[in-house]
Amino acid sequence: TVTKKLLVLPGDGIGPEVMREVAKVVSWMERTRGIRFEIEEDLVGGASLAVHGTPIRDEVIAKARAADAVLFGSVGDPRWAHVGFDRRPEVAILKLRSELELFANLRPAQVFEALADASTLKPEVVAGLDIMIVRETVGGIYFGEPRGIETLADGTRRGINTEVYTTPEIERVARVAFELARKRGNRVCSVEKCNVMESGLLWKEVVTDLHAREYPDVTLSHMLADNCAMQLVRNPRQFDVIVTGNLFGDLLSDLASMLTGSLGMLPSATLGPVAADGRRAALYEPIHGSAPDIAGTGQANPLAQILSFAMLLRYSLDRGDDADLIERAVADVLASGLRTPDIMSEGKARVGTATMGDAVVQALDRIAKAG
Ligand code: NAD
Ligand code: IPM
Ligand code: MN
Repeated sequence: TVTKKLLVLPGDGIGPEVMREVAKVVSWMERTRGIRFEIEEDLVGGASLAVHGTPIRDEVIAKARAADAVLFGSVGDPRWAHVGFDRRPEVAILKLRSELELFANLRPAQVFEALADASTLKPEVVAGLDIMIVRETVGGIYFGEPRGIETLADGTRRGINTEVYTTPEIERVARVAFELARKRGNRVCSVEKCNVMESGLLWKEVVTDLHAREYPDVTLSHMLADNCAMQLVRNPRQFDVIVTGNLFGDLLSDLASMLTGSLGMLPSATLGPVAADGRRAALYEPIHGSAPDIAGTGQANPLAQILSFAMLLRYSLDRGDDADLIERAVADVLASGLRTPDIMSEGKARVGTATMGDAVVQALDRIAKAG
């Protein structure tokens, strides 16, 4: 039996609620699939602020470095809205990304067959959708300098953020996108706003050069980000892999989640560089946040968190078969008609977080028994 070290960081709001459902899937894997997880759990976000006075301790960053993979819930709590920018709960995820250099955030938007009617768009527009958004996550306007709020002599205040991208930062994320495309539909659409931003112009040039040099076999297109938002709603299946910067990727992936039926469905993987010894830091989290509006009600959809664990098995532990099993179980549960309330489907059984998690484990049992 192989043993893998996981760091589990449930965070705030619905984070711990949906993580509890993943724990059931983890135990199932241990019982039936010849794998052991050595799990450490720690506090991040508002939960860490309350106990340690900081959104994330250096010790937790060190544990993340030492783990085979990090499973992250979500951070953010309106009770900490008043604290300074460097102490907000959200700093936890931003710091993990930057300290571990987790630069490539893979956000797959796939429409499960049973959910084709659950999108706010017409089923014939979204059925069969399978796109991968590759979002850069350690650069761009999230981290660029200068930043801050300053007060001018006349009392006027200025809020400042700066979009910065360097050639290596663009190249490495574009490379991830091209490599992924080769294993999928072989098409990459690079998204920026080169019509108004120098960082976007450089982005387009670097992606174009890299494509010509190393990936001429992949079909590359370019699109302005505003048009891309529109095209994702008009005809999302025209895309295969989308590669884009930090902020545009954040917006476009929340938009894409709704094509799949709910924000509560979308998992993600955030990968760092491959080290000399072959190790690669990686963090797995749903794209949704802590959902303070429904936290504590037992209604949160745990599937994005469960599917994030499936991505962890596939990308960090090389256990694609186990990942497939989980994805099949989720598909079966949805086909059986169970829905958490965030998924809009007429005439289907409304269930809460725990029932959904239990149903996934029961589906895993059925699939395993059927061989
Ligand atoms: P959100 O993603 O938390 O919620 C947006 C809407 O979607 C809400 O109505 C929520 O109830 C619903 N929703 C989200 N996930 C759901 C799920 N699994 N099941 C059912 N419904 C779900 O975004 P927000 O409300 O804008 O942000 C709330 C907090 O979360 C903020 O503090 C924000 O900074 C933080 N946030 C954190 C992360 C992260 O940790 N990676 C991601 C996004 C937002
Ligand atoms: C996400 C979130 C984060 C982001 C926040 C919480 C910092 O929205 O992971 O999508 O903007 O990257
Ligand atoms: Mn987001």
